[in-house]
Amino acid sequence: MSGFGNEFATQVYAGVLPEGQNSPQRAAFGLYAEQLSGTAFTAPRAENRRSWLYRIRPAAMHGAFAPYAQPRLHSEFERGAVSPDQLRWDPLPLPETPVDFVDGLYTMAGNGSPAAQHGVGVHLYAANRSMDGRYFYDADGELLIVPQLGRLRLATELGVLDVEPQEIAVIPRGVRFRVELPDGASRGYVCENFGALMRLPDLGPIGANGLANPRDFLTPNASYEDVEGEFELIAKFQGHLWRADIGHSPLDVVGWHGNYAPYKYDLRRFNTIGSISFDHPDPSIFTVLTSPSDTPGTANMDFVIFPPRWLVAQHTFRPPWFHRNVASEFMGLIHGAYDAKAEGFVPGGASLHNCMTGHGPDAETFEKASHADLSQAHVIADTMAFMFETRAVIRPTAQAFDAAHRQRGYQACWAGLRKHFSPPSA
Ligand SMILES: [Fe+2]
Repeated sequence: MSGFGNEFATQVYAGVLPEGQNSPQRAAFGLYAEQLSGTAFTAPRAENRRSWLYRIRPAAMHGAFAPYAQPRLHSEFERGAVSPDQLRWDPLPLPETPVDFVDGLYTMAGNGSPAAQHGVGVHLYAANRSMDGRYFYDADGELLIVPQLGRLRLATELGVLDVEPQEIAVIPRGVRFRVELPDGASRGYVCENFGALMRLPDLGPIGANGLANPRDFLTPNASYEDVEGEFELIAKFQGHLWRADIGHSPLDVVGWHGNYAPYKYDLRRFNTIGSISFDHPDPSIFTVLTSPSDTPGTANMDFVIFPPRWLVAQHTFRPPWFHRNVASEFMGLIHGAYDAKAEGFVPGGASLHNCMTGHGPDAETFEKASHADLSQAHVIADTMAFMFETRAVIRPTAQAFDAAHRQRGYQACWAGLRKHFSPPSA
C-alpha cells in the first residue's frame, strides 16, 4: 500500500475489520481489538496517528521485564564536555561471532532524551544473523533505519517490509518487529527519533511535487504468525533494554486499519531540486523527512540525502562550500563516493560536524572544483550520502569517541588548503 500517512485498511481475511466501528463487543474470528496510538489522543487531526489492530492475543500478554545487558546501545549523551572537533569514523567493524540486529546496535551519538521527548539517538548496526525467537520494540522513539550493507526483512506487527541499501524504513515507536538478514553480514545506520513523528517537509515555492513524493512511501499489508514457543520480547524503554518471556509470536495481527504504521521508501525515487543558474541552495532542499520541534522552521531532526544529480550551476564552486551551521550534522555514506571529499569518507563510515564547527571540501576537492570547466554539466552518478541534522549538538558517546575506527587524523584533510590571497597592489 502506498501514500505517506494515509488511512490504510488491510486484512488477511475478509471480515476481520469491523464495519463502521473500531471495537465491537466481540471482534471477528475470535480476535482481540487493540488501539496503538502514536500521538496524543487530542493531537490536531492532521498530526493524529493511531491504528486499530485485530490480533490473536493482546500486546499485554508477556512475562515481567528484567534488564537486558546490551551496553553498546543506550541514550546517555550527557557525559560531560564534548569536543567541537570535526570527527570521522571508518565503518563499524562487522562482528566475528553471531550477532543479531538488537545486539548489533551501537550508539554513536545523540542529544535530548526519551524522557524529554526531543532529540535523537544516532546508532549504527553491524550484525550477521537473523533475530530468532525474539522480538523488539522501541518505546523511546521511532526508528529510521538506513541499510548500507545487506538487505533487511523487517517482520512487523503490521506486516513485512523488505528493504535493501538505498532504501530506508521507519518503524514507529512501540511497534514490535523481528529483523531477518537474508544476506548475512549487514550494516547500516539508525536514527532513533525521540521527538515529533517524522513527516514530509512542506514544499513552499517548489509547488505540489518534488523531493520525496508521498505515493512512493510503501506500507505493508497485514500478515500474521500464529506460533507458540519460548520466545523473548526485548524493549527499549527510557534508554535501556529490557527482556521478557513471551509464549507466542507478537506478530499476530490479522488485520489493521489506521495511519500509524511502518513504511519504506526508495531513496533513488527522490526528485532532486537544485540550482539551474548559479550558487548553492541550502541542503534543506534535499530533505526527505523532518521531525519538527516546538520552534517553527527549526527541526528537531531532518533526514537529508545527497543522491545522484546533475551539477549545472555557472560561475559556481559546485561541491558544497565551506560552512558553519547553528545546526549539527551527522553524515553517512550508503553507496559510492561523496562529492565533497576526495578520500577517507567511505560507505559505512560516518562524520560529525557540530554546531559552528567549520567544515567543507578537503584540499584536493577544493583545488579540482576551483578549476573545473563549468561550460560542461557534470553528473554525479554513483553516490548516496545522507545527513541526520539536528538543532541540538550531537554528542558522541564515549565508545564512539574512543573507538579504534575513529580517524584521529581527520582534520589533516583541510591542512593542505593553501593561502591564495594576494591583495591588489597600491
Ligand atoms: Fe555541513
